[in-house]
Amino acid sequence: MFLDGVKFDLKAASGSVYSSTHAPRILILYGSLRDKSFSRMLAEEAGRILTQMGAEVRIFNPEGLPVFDNGKSVENSKVQELRSLSLWSEGHVWSSPELHGNIAAVMKNQIDWIPLAMDAVRPTQGRTLAVMEVSGGSQSFNAVNTMRVLGRWMRMITIPNQSSVAQAFNEFNEDGTMKPSSYRDRVVDVMEELMRFTYLTRDAAEFLVDRYSERKPAVSNVSYKALKDSK
Ligand SMILES: Cc1cc2nc3c(=O)[nH]c(=O)nc-3n(C[C@H](O)[C@H](O)[C@H](O)COP(=O)(O)O)c2cc1C
Repeated sequence: MFLDGVKFDLKAASGSVYSSTHAPRILILYGSLRDKSFSRMLAEEAGRILTQMGAEVRIFNPEGLPVFDNGKSVENSKVQELRSLSLWSEGHVWSSPELHGNIAAVMKNQIDWIPLAMDAVRPTQGRTLAVMEVSGGSQSFNAVNTMRVLGRWMRMITIPNQSSVAQAFNEFNEDGTMKPSSYRDRVVDVMEELMRFTYLTRDAAEFLVDRYSERKPAVSNVSYKALKDSK
């Protein structure tokens, strides 16, 4: 079917979903460089839960990632590592501290280094995303709300459930594992939902991010050339 000369082959394209059988590939990012970081502990707890649920998990260590400079440091090994992990992934988990009512710069810096598209390659588009935060005060949702906005910007499928661990200094054991609590139950719920959404959408990622307005210029160029050639 064509609309304004642009192809809409939705039925045929949608036939390709649900074929993968490999473990869902989940990339976890966290937003702190502290030795005793609760957002990292939360990220690692999520990683253990996801592994038990059958995912293949990679956790990116942001230590040494340069401050985003819009390309100058693109050859840096940490930038390359982050980008290739995102390309490999089918889903993400982002775990940020709340700092001054917002996400940590360490968290935002990682997102800024992942391009929306590198020619035809799209390292985040169509991936699932779960957002989590830790804070020192009472329960708050500023960081997860900001990460939802960022997920939209990166054209990711941000799942409805989320985790916000208040007074995080009370919630972890000395070995970094999370104490049993309703906060931990929520983390399990969020990871389960992430797995469900990833199974449902991963094979449809290309189908879901295919946009009329991005196909249109190519068609317009062809039409323009055809028009010129016909004169
Ligand atoms: C500069 C700064 C700002 C902070 N702002 C907030 C805040 O707005 N709300 C809050 O609940 N906790 C706030 N905190 C507490 C942190 O969220 C808490 O210490 C958290 O565990 C830090 O993350 P990390 O352990 O992964 O390094 C702030 C801490 C710092 C150092």
